[in-house]
Amino acid sequence: MFPKVNPTTTQAWLLLKKHYQEEMQRMKMKSLFDADAERFTKFSLRFNDILFDYSKNILTAKTIQLLQLLAEECNVKEAVEAMFNGEKINETEGRSVLHTALRNMGDKPVLSDGEDVMPAVRKVLAHMKAFCASIHSGEWKGYTGKPIKYILNIGIGGSDLGPFMVTEALKPYWVQGIQTYFVSNVDGTHIAETLKKITPDETLFLIASKTFTTQETMTNAHTARAWFLEHAKDEAHIAGHFAALSTNEKEVTKFGINPQNMFEFWDWVGGRYSLWSAIGLSIALTIGYDNFEALLNGAYKVDEHFRTEKHDKNIPVLMALIGLWYTSFFKAQTEAILPYDQYMHRFAAYFQQGNMESNGKNVDRNGNDVRYQTGPVIWGEPGTNGQHAFYQLIHQGTVMIPCDFIAPAISHNAIGDHHVKLLSNFFAQTEALMTGKSEEEVREELVKAGKTKEEIKKLFPFKVFEGNRPTNSFLIKQITPESLGSLIALYEHKIFVQGVIWNIFSFDQWGVELGKQLANKILPELENEAIISSHDSSTNGLINAFKALSKG
Ligand code: F6P
Repeated sequence: MFPKVNPTTTQAWLLLKKHYQEEMQRMKMKSLFDADAERFTKFSLRFNDILFDYSKNILTAKTIQLLQLLAEECNVKEAVEAMFNGEKINETEGRSVLHTALRNMGDKPVLSDGEDVMPAVRKVLAHMKAFCASIHSGEWKGYTGKPIKYILNIGIGGSDLGPFMVTEALKPYWVQGIQTYFVSNVDGTHIAETLKKITPDETLFLIASKTFTTQETMTNAHTARAWFLEHAKDEAHIAGHFAALSTNEKEVTKFGINPQNMFEFWDWVGGRYSLWSAIGLSIALTIGYDNFEALLNGAYKVDEHFRTEKHDKNIPVLMALIGLWYTSFFKAQTEAILPYDQYMHRFAAYFQQGNMESNGKNVDRNGNDVRYQTGPVIWGEPGTNGQHAFYQLIHQGTVMIPCDFIAPAISHNAIGDHHVKLLSNFFAQTEALMTGKSEEEVREELVKAGKTKEEIKKLFPFKVFEGNRPTNSFLIKQITPESLGSLIALYEHKIFVQGVIWNIFSFDQWGVELGKQLANKILPELENEAIISSHDSSTNGLINAFKALSKG
């Protein structure tokens, strides 16, 4: 395995620090554009239908060179090969990391534990394909003889966010006659409201859980099962209405799901990287198997690009280095993802998990405390809605928030001038964030508006925009299964590269365990009348107040 390097001990880190302090800290992007008419050409790349423009960032060719040097000193190339080659880079769980095998369209074997995983991957894909065909053709019948009309995916985290995000983003591709819902929250409201929308004899329940032990999913699955049986009356009908997407055959069988309706995946698929696996069955059933395959293909093309392209032309590597430049040197704490596409309304939420569960760690790969900032907070909403909500802080707040702007050139809904209006906002925002508005411009504007000298003096400081706020722009011909697959894979690899440089294990998630353990301890305490005194005074007080209040 390649050496695990503390990035702050590298030569590149020191050079980047110096470069930041002496040359870039006060650098104005506007002056970089004024000085170089070719800046857009130099700092943008095309990958099939995706144009990646990173010119509106506070960086020069030297910055990129130094960041590349950092990637080299931190063994990014070696780490990429180790991942693709199935080495157990998820060391705290002793696992390979092979979501790339799930979308591998090549003919070479992919090894984990010395065994080629591709035959098993292709077998499950063939099973998914045949299953989709029988549902979509109407050959698969529910217990009253009607075909399946509703898909209800029950899962949480990686077993929900990916399929939900993708099916929403690809709504124009939905198979006619199929309506898909997702239930994730253990709050009974989620399933109760969803059950109102479906009929038991026309519904296929997909119980999506890598472990098949997740409290929320199993609770919702049992509620769905009970509701189904209230109507179907006979346990024999479960086989026609429940399927499992899981790595845990034992628990699936215990739940009563027919093993023929189990779609398997493996421990080398991380939950938040699992939409390409059997967890994607809800996607395939919703948009059709061929479109699911196109999604995989889009991701595969990016995998090839990521693995083979030189770092200065490698989009996910550049995305990672640019993000790291702001997090580690400008001390930016958050990043916004802003899709100008209403269908992509869950994209930021999806990468919130992708990024924060992967890189939100404070111990490095050598077991030492991390003394530098790792994963940023990821957030965002579609434009233009966000513009009327939180952009104020991005434009004039006191902290830097690097933003990714994403937009399709072609809309799936070409109604009147909606799309050009949407895109005019997309272009205007990145321009405004970069150029800002100077004191002179504000004064001139106020004079033109007929304001008095006194009024101008009072108003102008509030109307100045300092600008110099960095953005990446992704302009995509159209959001299709293939381009979306590519876009997702770009972000996945960005996260991976950052994890390698920050020297953390990106594929475990121990930080979510403590809350789960405590909830399991507290649950029985809520199910009796006793006054609780085993916790701190706040937790005791809250539990006891809940007990009193919930009596009505
Ligand atoms: O609690 C976090 C987590 O383990 C995620 O990593 C995962 O995506 C989610 O729970 C769901 O897990 P499972 O698919 O095993 O139900």
